[in-house]
Amino acid sequence: MSRPAYACSKCGNLLEVRTDVRSSKERLAKSDWKKRPLSVWKYRELIPVDSKAKVYSLNEGGTPLLECSRLSEHLGMKNLRIKFDGTNPTGSFKDRGMTVGITKAKELGMKVVTCASTGNTSASLAAYAGLADLKCVVLIPEGKVALGKLAQAMMHGALVVSVKGNFDQALDLVMKSSEKLGMYVLNSVNPFRIEGQKTAAFEICDQMGGRSPEYLYIPVGNGGNSAAYWKGFAEFESLGVVSSHPIVRGIQAEGAAPVAKMFESNAKELVAVKKPDTVATAIRIGNPANWKKTVRAIKESGGYASTVSDEEILRAQGMLAKYAGVFAEPAGAAALAGVIKDLKLRKIDKSAEIVCVSTGHGLKDPDVAISQSVEPASIEASMSALEKLLGSE
Ligand code: F0G
Repeated sequence: MSRPAYACSKCGNLLEVRTDVRSSKERLAKSDWKKRPLSVWKYRELIPVDSKAKVYSLNEGGTPLLECSRLSEHLGMKNLRIKFDGTNPTGSFKDRGMTVGITKAKELGMKVVTCASTGNTSASLAAYAGLADLKCVVLIPEGKVALGKLAQAMMHGALVVSVKGNFDQALDLVMKSSEKLGMYVLNSVNPFRIEGQKTAAFEICDQMGGRSPEYLYIPVGNGGNSAAYWKGFAEFESLGVVSSHPIVRGIQAEGAAPVAKMFESNAKELVAVKKPDTVATAIRIGNPANWKKTVRAIKESGGYASTVSDEEILRAQGMLAKYAGVFAEPAGAAALAGVIKDLKLRKIDKSAEIVCVSTGHGLKDPDVAISQSVEPASIEASMSALEKLLGSE
């Protein structure tokens, strides 16, 4: 069994898969990829797993890019689309990375997989580990994981460990202990996770008829997904599949915004937020492991990172649900909150072509949804009671 590595032993930076443009072009040219249905594995020529490897898949990817005309109308926008990645098999974008990460884990002969998680990674890892007959150990911050996500990890058979601390401390523990305890880490520090997640960018280009949008708005927590999207857009551009790339706008919650603060203050190094806090528990992260990758990605795209308040996140969550039929968890509404804020501050034009990533499903966090909603009206089981309630007596 090979010894897994996640970071360079010399400089300490996280490892990254480099795509060789010439050989990738040749592989694509020889394949029928354009005819395959939209999914993560549509792009298998650009995913670094052995061509003979057994793929562990739940049919992830192929998620809708919604035009959402009523939402656009409500915001006075002309060109807004939502990439709803909450429709993946376990309800978040993590499945894109996990199908590749678990396929790789098996290829490498791993027996035990692990992660620290604010919830979605653990739910996804648990599902794919079960599929591939791997033991799964997940560490979650005590009391701060949305109920649906916890239920998923438990039902899929993971050993769920609640850590008295936040996500950053749990991830630190995972990174320090994994080698000694023989566990393969499937947080986004694992470069193969990123390789799966980059397919969301490929899909967007395909869904837009072979083009990139002008802007991509995306929430930033640990920084893996934004870096993955950028890698996807940049690869498609370098392979000549598309002729441009979007400006990436990273959105963080005010109470957990170390990356946005770097952009604000033009700092070169990240200053971790010691006690991150936000209603969007998925992105309640103060010391993002991928900060270098995401900062580089956002800068290379010509974009920057900024913040939204919890109130703005919840308002955007309500709008997505009411006007677009998209029930997103709070983190999955943060990007739209960013668009609305930018519009108000006139940082973008109403006609800007925007794709907004909604990363996780609202059913994962019923508590937050219910606490914002009007309680159901209670009536007797009679026509008159219903008429009275509806005011049509
Ligand atoms: N949105 C959702 C719904 C998430 O679950 C996460 C991260 C993000 C956005 C941020 O993505 O970390 O790649 O920048 N969730 C991780 C987890 C941390 O453990 O489930 P990122």
